[in-house]
Amino acid sequence: MKVFVTGHKGYIGAHLVELLQSAGHEVTGCDLDLFEGCAWEPFPSPDHELNKDIRDISEDDLRGFDCVMHLAAISNDPMGDLNPEITYSINRDGSIRLAKLAKAAGVPRFLFASSCSIYGKGEKLDLDETAVFNPVSAYAFSKVETEEAVSALADDSFSPSFLRNATAYGHSPMLRIDLVVNNLLGCAIARGDIRIMSDGSPWRPLIHCRDIARAFVAFMEAPRDVVHNQAVNIGANEENYQVKDVADYVQELVPDAKIVYTGEVGADPRNYRVNFDKLYTLLPEFKLQYTLKAGMEELYNKYREHGFSEEDFSGDQFVRLRTLRHRLDRIEKAEPVA
Ligand SMILES: NC(=O)c1ccc[n+]([C@@H]2O[C@H](COP(=O)([O-])OP(=O)(O)OC[C@H]3O[C@@H](n4cnc5c(N)ncnc54)[C@H](O)[C@@H]3O)[C@@H](O)[C@H]2O)c1
Repeated sequence: MKVFVTGHKGYIGAHLVELLQSAGHEVTGCDLDLFEGCAWEPFPSPDHELNKDIRDISEDDLRGFDCVMHLAAISNDPMGDLNPEITYSINRDGSIRLAKLAKAAGVPRFLFASSCSIYGKGEKLDLDETAVFNPVSAYAFSKVETEEAVSALADDSFSPSFLRNATAYGHSPMLRIDLVVNNLLGCAIARGDIRIMSDGSPWRPLIHCRDIARAFVAFMEAPRDVVHNQAVNIGANEENYQVKDVADYVQELVPDAKIVYTGEVGADPRNYRVNFDKLYTLLPEFKLQYTLKAGMEELYNKYREHGFSEEDFSGDQFVRLRTLRHRLDRIEKAEPVA
């Protein structure tokens, strides 16, 4: 199939390009390269590449594709707080515009990278896809509003699906350490302590970034009627963890590291445990390749192999917010998206 992937140079996108190409698909990537120079390891290039803001994509750019996989975004909550207008402009307005163009260009399938963070401060545990949204950030609001608007475009010719991904972790050639697991493990290795900003009790659904990429491939290859206009949580019931469980795993890998509770919990009220039954009902063949333990061991070995240091931990390279602060000029636009 001919696949158009936005955000292909990101943490998840770097895996996705490789998986799609190895499955025999032809990949066109579109990315603004906001994290140019931040790669940890080399990764394969797509067959064709557009270095473009998704807000500048035209209908012509999208003609002839079988599927658009839309991952490009300002990709986390604190970044959304840095500049909510940019998050709304790219993540919501840019995404809705892209979906409309894809439909107009005759692209039959559209897969959107949504997030379990739309459940935000969960009012109950084991949230399924019917749970009330409780977004607590511009990032999470942007995902909710995009889902609603793009879902309204669904018809016989245009089939969107919404992959509500759990929080990613694990090795990628485009490593990020601003995600809870990678951060705690990186801190233990670089600094010798495991710093937990809450009391350790908040629940998080976790998934290896490569398993998210595998889910995108599985959705594209699934029969249309199975996934048509469906929002689906991407993860596994047994891969919900409390932050203190993650810290315990980190300590198993780095026994000398001390667990420190900093108690800055006020800044992050997110707490959600998620139910993933729908994914396995719709796609019974799909299984995660990684458990948290296996993914952490792999990342631990990668950190050691790369000599991950204090400089790496405190620098800009692996933290999206820090890099983006210096590159806001690339995404600030004078005019709102039409
Ligand atoms: N990482 C997670 O834990 C997680 C969890 C749930 C959902 N998601 C979603 O998955 C997607 C990918 O996440 P990621 O972790 O790979 O993020 P990332 O920040 O590593 O990658 C995002 C990519 O999008 C590109 N990009 C950003 N704005 C752009 C624009 N206007 N035009 C073109 N390219 C642009 C960046 O250059 C970058 O390469 C995002 O939509 C994110 O919201 C991620």
